[in-house]
Amino acid sequence: MFSFVRPIAATPAPRLCWRNDNRGGPARAGSAGGRADGERGAFPRQAAGRLGVRLFAATHKDIHDGYPDWLRAALAGVCATDLTDVPRALGDMEEFCRRHGIAAVAPCFELFTPLAALLAERTGLPGNDPRLARAARNKILMGEAFAAAGIPAPRWAVAHDGAEAHRAAGAHGLGWPLVVKPAEQGGSWGVSVVDGPDRLAEAVGAARQYTHAHPHGLELDSRALLQEYVAGDEYSCDTVVADGVAYPLPVVAKDTTEGRYRIETGHTCPSGLPAPLVRKVQHTAARAALAVGVRNGIAHTELKIPPGTQTPYVIETGARLPGDNLCEVVEAATGVSEAVAHLQAVLGLVPDTAASRTDAASIRFLLPEHGGVLRQVVIPDLPGTHSEVHLRPGEVVPEPADSTCRIGHVVARAETADRARGLADRVAARSRVEVG
Ligand SMILES: Nc1ncnc2c1ncn2[C@@H]1O[C@H](COP(=O)(O)OP(=O)(O)OP(=O)(O)O)[C@@H](O)[C@H]1O
Ligand SMILES: [Mg+2]
Repeated sequence: MFSFVRPIAATPAPRLCWRNDNRGGPARAGSAGGRADGERGAFPRQAAGRLGVRLFAATHKDIHDGYPDWLRAALAGVCATDLTDVPRALGDMEEFCRRHGIAAVAPCFELFTPLAALLAERTGLPGNDPRLARAARNKILMGEAFAAAGIPAPRWAVAHDGAEAHRAAGAHGLGWPLVVKPAEQGGSWGVSVVDGPDRLAEAVGAARQYTHAHPHGLELDSRALLQEYVAGDEYSCDTVVADGVAYPLPVVAKDTTEGRYRIETGHTCPSGLPAPLVRKVQHTAARAALAVGVRNGIAHTELKIPPGTQTPYVIETGARLPGDNLCEVVEAATGVSEAVAHLQAVLGLVPDTAASRTDAASIRFLLPEHGGVLRQVVIPDLPGTHSEVHLRPGEVVPEPADSTCRIGHVVARAETADRARGLADRVAARSRVEVG
């Protein structure tokens, strides 16, 4: 979905065109693929209420028909189009924007961020650079953009099959382990860490399985990207950009599983990094956002800092709000609403990014040990925490190879990051998850 904004009441309210539908990739039985949809819809809706703007959406008619009631109720209108047909979508959305006096365009779905940049340019609304916007969606173009801007990032190569991957990994000196991932995808789908040559062809096949993104049927670049493995702790840092000026948001520590599949297990804000390194992460994330053409919008950047160094390496950046309930985590810790700042930026306003508190928050995801059918999930209620279950008993739990396997999550708030993380860990450890 795509949202358009228009102000409400006294002064004519800005309208936001907003597109948000779902993560890419094929639908999977029992998957929690719709989660990011509701989650990303929830934060912009809340932000629109706070800013007094109306939300409109652009999406496919059948996809809008499947929206939950709360999301449909939050929309002041819908532009039904085919987002995979660029000329038609641009024509339909431009006409809709003019008819409804739309004041801003905010893409929330990574794969449509280039289309949002084209629409903003066509309608004269604040937006990202359409000439660079595809680099925020396609990790091969992203690698080129980072190299051109001199941003520290893993070395990489492209492959269509196992034999080419063997040659390319050697020619580019990527070493072992290396990471294989789809050129265009999210949610860690198709991403694997490969220890040695034996598993390379299989990993390339897994990364190349995505030819079209669910639910719109958007065609994807199905080449596999091979990346040098960057060791070290992982962080994320979002950047709001307004009229080309970058405003860094708080740094968040990210925990993932180890081994072949790297699935997020949780996030904690603040990150625990010393202040100079926080500034370095924010600076690098801002450079990454600008390198992929973000001018009026937000970018979510993931970085790793190799042990013994002070250099953040950018793993990827996306020109969208973060997923994983990070909007909630960051706001609970710092008082900064990323969704409000994002809407302000696309409205051409100076974003409000000043922290109003110094608390801490941590989110932990409940992951299964293996796939199957969910028999039972019980998450205890501890003071300072709240939880949410993503799957119901009887639903299929995918194998723990990407983020669709999440069964639920818990968010903890406390005075310090260690306490918030400890509290969330305690709830996760005491939770009962049975998958048969
Ligand atoms: N080059 C790398 N070196 C080390 N770890 C990596 C590398 N690339 C990816 N990873 C690990 O795999 C995870 C998923 O990779 P990546 O972010 O590129 O995929 P994604 O599908 O866009 O993920 P998501 O949407 O969940 O952020 C990263 O968060 C990181 O933990
Ligand atoms: Mg990622």
